[in-house]
Amino acid sequence: MSPVLSVRDLSVRFRMRSGRHIAAVTGVSFDLAAGECLALVGESGCGKSVLASALLGLLPGNAQTAGTAVIDGVDLLAADERTLARTVRGRRVGLVPQSPAAHLTPVRTVRAHVEETLRELAGTPRAELRDAAVAAAERAAFPPGLLDHYPHELSGGQAQRAATALALIGDAPLLLADEPTTGLDRDLVDRTADELRRHADDGRALLMITHDLAAAERIADRVAVMYAGRIVELAGADRFFGDPGPRHPYARGLLAALPERDFTPIPGMPPELGDLPDGCAFAARCDRASDACAVVPRFEGGLACHHSEETVRA
Ligand SMILES: Nc1ncnc2c1ncn2[C@@H]1O[C@H](COP(=O)(O)OP(=O)(O)O)[C@@H](O)[C@H]1O
Ligand code: SF4
Ligand SMILES: [Mg+2]
Repeated sequence: MSPVLSVRDLSVRFRMRSGRHIAAVTGVSFDLAAGECLALVGESGCGKSVLASALLGLLPGNAQTAGTAVIDGVDLLAADERTLARTVRGRRVGLVPQSPAAHLTPVRTVRAHVEETLRELAGTPRAELRDAAVAAAERAAFPPGLLDHYPHELSGGQAQRAATALALIGDAPLLLADEPTTGLDRDLVDRTADELRRHADDGRALLMITHDLAAAERIADRVAVMYAGRIVELAGADRFFGDPGPRHPYARGLLAALPERDFTPIPGMPPELGDLPDGCAFAARCDRASDACAVVPRFEGGLACHHSEETVRA
């Protein structure tokens, strides 16, 4: 079966006034199939949201992209604004935003949001809007009794469900969720993650961007680890979270930093994306670094590291 989304060699550079370039995303490639959940994980500032914005055609004017990201025959990176607005956002790619409350207009009820989206994306006739709004709410487990509430009257979890209901209306085959569980307590994190998983089980492809490894472990089929704009490891979730664990030293460090594991933070800080070192960007923090690491490792067989096998054996 052909993938829902096929990303090849995607790079995003921001041109700054100073003449400097910020290498936010570099050489990212992956496929995503219907019914599959891929978790994209990595520390803050590594390029996850920029990648999501690129897929939605929402990058600012100073961004330059390279590579391809094809969904349903359309290259999202080459499409013009009209195509993106008419056929991509909401229709081919649904977004569950990071802060749902901020995406809802404060002076409008949830019903007003839902009905407007139904008219725009589903072409629902006026006479059918009331029933369709209830159905849309129920699909995302948003209580229909709260449809006439304003955003500020909703709890964090309810706002999340309202945003998810909106994201599902266009029946987009790809759902992007950018940090969908930020700011929720653990119980709500689990419920939100399970709900997103359910939409993948309904046949959508789900790209869940998160720095919450527990949420990724709960629902992901595969995990992509991003460091300094590159995917450094792409692995099945069972292997990644279980035995033998990840192969990349950074990915192993991320897991070891978890309180329920070793609780040992990775030393040092990620590099500035406007001032990346030559060679492997993780070298300054990596206890396996050698002379070979002065050359950027190629991403091959799901991994970008010169010394991965030694890492696993250690
Ligand atoms: N519009 C922009 N102009 C310049 N740099 C940007 C812009 N948007 C994001 N960046 C930079 O791109 C890098 C990646 O950011 P982001 O994708 O938001 O990280 P995260 O992984 O936390 O989502 C950061 O260094 C950020 O400063
Ligand atoms: S390439 Fe070298 S520096 Fe980079 S993660 Fe692998 S061992 Fe560490
Ligand atoms: Mg982000």
